[in-house]
Amino acid sequence: MASDLVRFSVAIPEGLLEAFDRHAARRGTHINRSEAIRDLIREQLVEEDFDDPDTEVVGSITMVYDHHTIGLSGSLDQIQHDHMDVIVSTMHVHLDHFNCLEVLAVRGTSERISALADQLLGTKGVSYGRLAAVASKSAIEAGH
Ligand code: NI
Repeated sequence: MASDLVRFSVAIPEGLLEAFDRHAARRGTHINRSEAIRDLIREQLVEEDFDDPDTEVVGSITMVYDHHTIGLSGSLDQIQHDHMDVIVSTMHVHLDHFNCLEVLAVRGTSERISALADQLLGTKGVSYGRLAAVASKSAIEAGH
């Protein structure tokens, strides 16, 4: 939801501001200082939302594992069947003879998504795992 822009002034040490401008420049030349500050504020608010177990979140869980590891595929499958209510879609890619990449699109409460990610990514044999999720309200309303 777009809203009117409000101007306000902030006192900040010069060195800190210079460091911040360098940070903004690394994120892209099209990002100006105001946009960079708005992004930081949004990120912070999204993280706070995620702390509430009842917050509705959307995102993805990515993992890489060796499907030859005994029992691993079955364990990951069982965990996913126990969380069918929050898994919207799954993509499985056979990376090479041994390794599989799996990406799950997820939508549900922060508590439920965190539990799913913790179980999957904590399973022995998962060599890479990452949860990327935001509160759906923040993701939709943050508007640029
Ligand atoms: Ni595979």
